[in-house]
Amino acid sequence: MKGYRKHASTLMLIFFLLSGSYLWAQGDKQKKPKEQGMHHWTAPQEEKLRINPIPLTDESILRGKNLYTKDCTGCHGVKGDGKGPDASYITPRPSNLKAMAGHHRDGGLSWKIRKGKGAMPAWEELFSEEQIWDLVNYIQSLKSFDQKTPLKQE
Ligand code: HEC
Repeated sequence: MKGYRKHASTLMLIFFLLSGSYLWAQGDKQKKPKEQGMHHWTAPQEEKLRINPIPLTDESILRGKNLYTKDCTGCHGVKGDGKGPDASYITPRPSNLKAMAGHHRDGGLSWKIRKGKGAMPAWEELFSEEQIWDLVNYIQSLKSFDQKTPLKQE
């Protein structure tokens, strides 16, 4: 009986240690997305499903890149990693567009660029529909092809 008890308390200890580190890891996970500009913002379903009318050509990507360089790098950074010079004093942080590329549908990205949220301006006042789709094409082109994570279209 004594031996059993000793065994049980060792097991309990291991259990507490494991669950403790699990919770700690979860807490860490919850904190990270915001810091890295990976927090969640969801577009309405019907917007996500909108078809991009501008083909993904080099020309469109280049037009998007030119707009992006002029108007988006201050916050989202030259590389699209959300670390532009203005990013540090904005909460929530500007999104890491490079990490999101390929994981979000064109329609959802276009809606977010049009409507804005918080510090993210509503670009529909400045840009035409076509220009916004060019920006979407540019953002999607930032996807790194060695990405290990499977493609998940939100
Ligand atoms: C003044 C800073 C600022 C500028 C300039 C800016 N953004 Fe943003 N952007 C943000 C912030 C902050 C967010 C995150 C908003 C949130 O989730 O609350 C964001 C989010 C986004 C998202 C959504 C990503 C996602 O799926 O959550 C896209 C797409 C985006 N920006 C594209 C652009 C493009 C394209 C431009 C240039 C035309 C631009 N942004 C310029 C601050 C900025």
